Amino acid sequence: MKAVDINAKIIGLAHPTEGKKGKGWYQRIELKKGIWTPGVGLGNTWEVMKSDFLPDTLKRKKILDIGCNAGYHMIEAARMGAMTVGIEPDEYYYAQAEFVKSCLPKRLGKRMVFYKEWTTPNFLKSLGNFDMIWSINVLHNLEYKLQAPCILAMADITDEVIARYRNKSANKATKESIDKYFRDVGFRVKSRYPTGRKEGAYRYIHYVK
Ligand SMILES: C[S@@+](CC[C@H](N)C(=O)[O-])C[C@H]1O[C@@H](n2cnc3c(N)ncnc32)[C@H](O)[C@@H]1O
Repeated sequence: MKAVDINAKIIGLAHPTEGKKGKGWYQRIELKKGIWTPGVGLGNTWEVMKSDFLPDTLKRKKILDIGCNAGYHMIEAARMGAMTVGIEPDEYYYAQAEFVKSCLPKRLGKRMVFYKEWTTPNFLKSLGNFDMIWSINVLHNLEYKLQAPCILAMADITDEVIARYRNKSANKATKESIDKYFRDVGFRVKSRYPTGRKEGAYRYIHYVK
């Protein structure tokens, strides 16, 4: 696809409620050399995952990304050799993800599969087993009564979860409640970022069994 067509598509796929800063995109992704989706900029989220939680290679690993948005973290995982599955219920973000995938080299695109679905325990279990589940900036968005059952379902299909979630959220979840759900189903905390007083509104926790 020519650069002019890619840029037109980026504008056409803008999410109507994402806000002006990201021009309708949440994730900033390089589609072809020098052509980026606008995005709000995620700070150093990927760098933190790589340096604090991930092994040197993800070859032969199968990763589920819950709330994958336009697929940014999946692309990085695919670059490290993983097969990735993403869940994104929002039709606009899902369309962005499929478009992003279509712009990538085939060797990466074939390592990414997206589902336009809400996260429910049954749907999670229908996907089979994963080496890791990533749930970055999304657990606190799940419907409150589904949080514990979804974390229980995660425990059925993986031994390792990297979660980044908000300390407090509008829908009653707190860092204590979400953390307890993980511990109740057999996970323990391997590491976290940031720690102690540096902890801001969000923090990462790496759970393992
Ligand atoms: C704040 S964004 C985070 C996106 C991405 N994980 C990241 O960190 O860049 C939250 C994403 O979760 C998606 N989402 C909201 N509710 C969801 C649910 N029940 N299941 C899966 N994804 C959901 C949203 O559509 C959105 O793409």
